Amino acid sequence: MVQIAIANYDLLRLLRKIPFLQNRFIAKIYALNQIKDPKYYNDFLSGIKLNNSIYKTTEPARFEDVNSVLLRIISPSEKHYVHDIAVSNGVVSIELFQALKARNIDFQFAVSDKFSKGYYTGRFLQTVYESDMKPRNFYCIGICLSANSTTAIEQKLYRIMVKRENRIRKKKIKEFSFYHADVLKMLGNGTIHEIKYDVLDSSIENKFTFVRAMNILNRNYFSEDQIVQALLCIKKSMKNNAVFQIGRTHPDGVNRVSFFRKMQDTLSLIEDYNDGSEIKDLIQRLN
Ligand SMILES: C[S@@+](CC[C@H](N)C(=O)[O-])C[C@H]1O[C@@H](n2cnc3c(N)ncnc32)[C@H](O)[C@@H]1O
Repeated sequence: MVQIAIANYDLLRLLRKIPFLQNRFIAKIYALNQIKDPKYYNDFLSGIKLNNSIYKTTEPARFEDVNSVLLRIISPSEKHYVHDIAVSNGVVSIELFQALKARNIDFQFAVSDKFSKGYYTGRFLQTVYESDMKPRNFYCIGICLSANSTTAIEQKLYRIMVKRENRIRKKKIKEFSFYHADVLKMLGNGTIHEIKYDVLDSSIENKFTFVRAMNILNRNYFSEDQIVQALLCIKKSMKNNAVFQIGRTHPDGVNRVSFFRKMQDTLSLIEDYNDGSEIKDLIQRLN
């Protein structure tokens, strides 16, 4: 089905009220921050699939239950340095931030996401790029072409556009952010900060007292070797005695999470919540 992408969110809302037009119109990816309605914002964000096949899906309040387990585990008397990995728009990071604050925990808070930014060029023929400047989709006078386009003609046009992009030089590149407006505000006033972090390749050493990796190191996203590589990077980034939270929100909505503590050079299991993480065996294999 041909989909028309528009950047004016008010117009989009009107068009989507007409039943037979509902799925024909979508928001332009770089207009994300204009979307005020949280439900529509989440629906839209959750539908975004990156070139590496990982989705941007997140949802407010999805970790309320897990946060209360964490607050039992984390030492309230220590000064913490928190790293929340692969946060998507970061709404769940704000919730963790507020939960720690409410407990009077003293902490610094860092967020990261390899794909926190995107770029776009052009006006009538627009190209949207991911953080690594690989083209992700095209808007030809509004018609959206992407790797996920369904008809054969759209797929063909998409491939032609990718080839063309690889040949031309871009000018006037504009940036957009996947972070929620509230997260951008906290980043802007220094309440939290952002670090550059690719989960598969990082050289940070001995820095954090709490690291959270939710819905990123999943078996359906990465191979076992890649997950092990990512876990070694995370372990290296943690201080002795630091806590690591790893888990996934499964399709049934249940968070299956494991908590580990770094002791010397090993990660030892503190607690499983709802049976624990699907990759806890890989962590135990590291030791
Ligand atoms: C499913 S979302 C998880 C969001 C959030 N942690 C949660 O559970 O609600 C996965 C996120 O991982 C990010 N991501 C994908 N590949 C990554 C990589 N190699 N390093 C860091 N982040 C990555 C994506 O940009 C996306 O925002």
